[in-house]
Amino acid sequence: MKVAPSILSGNFLNLEKDLDMVNEYADLIHVDVMDGTFVPNISFGFPVVDAIAKVIKVPMDVHLMIINPDKYIERFSRSGANMISFHLEAAEKEGKDPKEIIDLIHSFGVKAGIAINPDVPVEKLFPYIQDVDFFLVMSVFAGFGGQKFIEASVQRIESLREEMKRSGTFKDIEVDGGIGPDNIEILRQAGCTICVAGSSVFHASDRAKVIAELRGE
Ligand code: DX5
Ligand code: ZN
Repeated sequence: MKVAPSILSGNFLNLEKDLDMVNEYADLIHVDVMDGTFVPNISFGFPVVDAIAKVIKVPMDVHLMIINPDKYIERFSRSGANMISFHLEAAEKEGKDPKEIIDLIHSFGVKAGIAINPDVPVEKLFPYIQDVDFFLVMSVFAGFGGQKFIEASVQRIESLREEMKRSGTFKDIEVDGGIGPDNIEILRQAGCTICVAGSSVFHASDRAKVIAELRGE
């Protein structure tokens, strides 16, 4: 299990300190970009992502919770993103072919992922198993850190994992929202391979210990 702390829960007055901690203990950094339109919240944009890129040593996983994601993919890849996910709902709403957005992400040498909110049927991801590098299954509604884990996410991850088995193609399943040491074991069993953790890591007194627990060490 790879652990991707979400910097949304970090201390914006001293991001460097939190990023050093991520460099030392975690596998990836999860960067939540919100536009106030696709989701009701606004997080941060290019100046912050560029600054993060300057100090981060682990791969940067950019989660786009924005409309028109295709418009910004080149810019985020220039920022140093190693993984970019966009929401299927955004592509569908704009009548864009998710496969084309995946190809666009790949054209910049970046790993591509499709994200879905908890109310999107997980079967909608199945046609893209061959195309993506990873899926991002939201276990809370995208928009805010610190929400409660939605239990029904576990069966959704299991279904996706089952479909991967059927197709004989295994891709990473990243799960995001409300994850901590209490629910990590069930996610691991369901097939989650990357866990995003915001508040459970950054609000802990011993962050290294929480990351180790999430990893299963
Ligand atoms: C929610 C974001 C998450 C969030 C996770 O919209 O996509 O990545 O930062 O935070 P926690 O772990 O606190 O739920
Ligand atoms: Zn996220």
